[in-house]
Amino acid sequence: MDALSIRDLEKRFVKGRRGEVYALRGIGLRVAPGEIYGVLGPNGSGKSTLVRIVATLLLPDAGEVRVFGHDVVREAWKVRELIHRVSAEAAFFKKLSPMENLLYGARLYGIPGRIAARRARELFSRLGLPPDRIGKPMEQLSRGQQQKVAVARAFLHPPRLLLLDEPTTGLDPRSKREVQELILELREREGTTVFLTTHDMEEADRICDRVAILDEGRIVAQGTPAALKARVSCDGSEATMEDVFFAVTGKEWGDDEGPEAT
Ligand SMILES: Nc1ncnc2c1ncn2[C@@H]1O[C@H](COP(=O)(O)OP(=O)(O)O)[C@@H](O)[C@H]1O
Ligand SMILES: [Mg+2]
Repeated sequence: MDALSIRDLEKRFVKGRRGEVYALRGIGLRVAPGEIYGVLGPNGSGKSTLVRIVATLLLPDAGEVRVFGHDVVREAWKVRELIHRVSAEAAFFKKLSPMENLLYGARLYGIPGRIAARRARELFSRLGLPPDRIGKPMEQLSRGQQQKVAVARAFLHPPRLLLLDEPTTGLDPRSKREVQELILELREREGTTVFLTTHDMEEADRICDRVAILDEGRIVAQGTPAALKARVSCDGSEATMEDVFFAVTGKEWGDDEGPEAT
């Protein structure tokens, strides 16, 4: 059974005078259990919308999305037990500290407090959360620090399908690397399936088994990074993911991509 299967997915939004616009159109993909699958696309290409639909936070307008066989619309409650989403707008108890937020989550999942606290400290240290922040209220942390706490929480009690919406956007290079290592380790250790979005081509190339390139709500290419690069390499020199994007969209991959707004 697929960990995630998506067929003919469509999502439209009403946008002022432009009326209805497609955020996603004709999306089809399948993710195998234990796979790290990346959705790579520029800002506004539909990545967060796609993740929100899989996470049961948005309803599709057409098509079908299943998580381990369960339909995200008709069996949303079941899907919610199998997933965890990390995004820029992560929800925390703002008055509680990073440690308290993680221990609260651990209790819900029946992880003993001492074990959870040790593991949480290890995750915070790896992600470079300053030690003096671990006991401070979440609301006093910077955005990047809050993002590290959100990532740590997901790794403390990993779900069957981990949804990571731009988990490394806005992080410093060292923390970025650490998050990538954690993702690879998690799959190795627990066999967790990971569905992640990124606009970092190097990241997609480095950690994803397969990627879908999204442009204006459509998948314009899909495959292993190696196969995608081989397809566009013509003179024997190695192609980059930037070359792949240019070959399938005719557009340059902007290197001025700022952090996501959503
Ligand atoms: N709630 C919403 N209402 C209207 N338009 C939206 C909404 N959410 C997303 N969109 C639009 O859908 C498109 C895709 O957005 P999004 O999924 O956030 O892209 P990405 O995450 O790749 O930056 C954009 O044009 C965005 O403006
Ligand atoms: Mg987004």
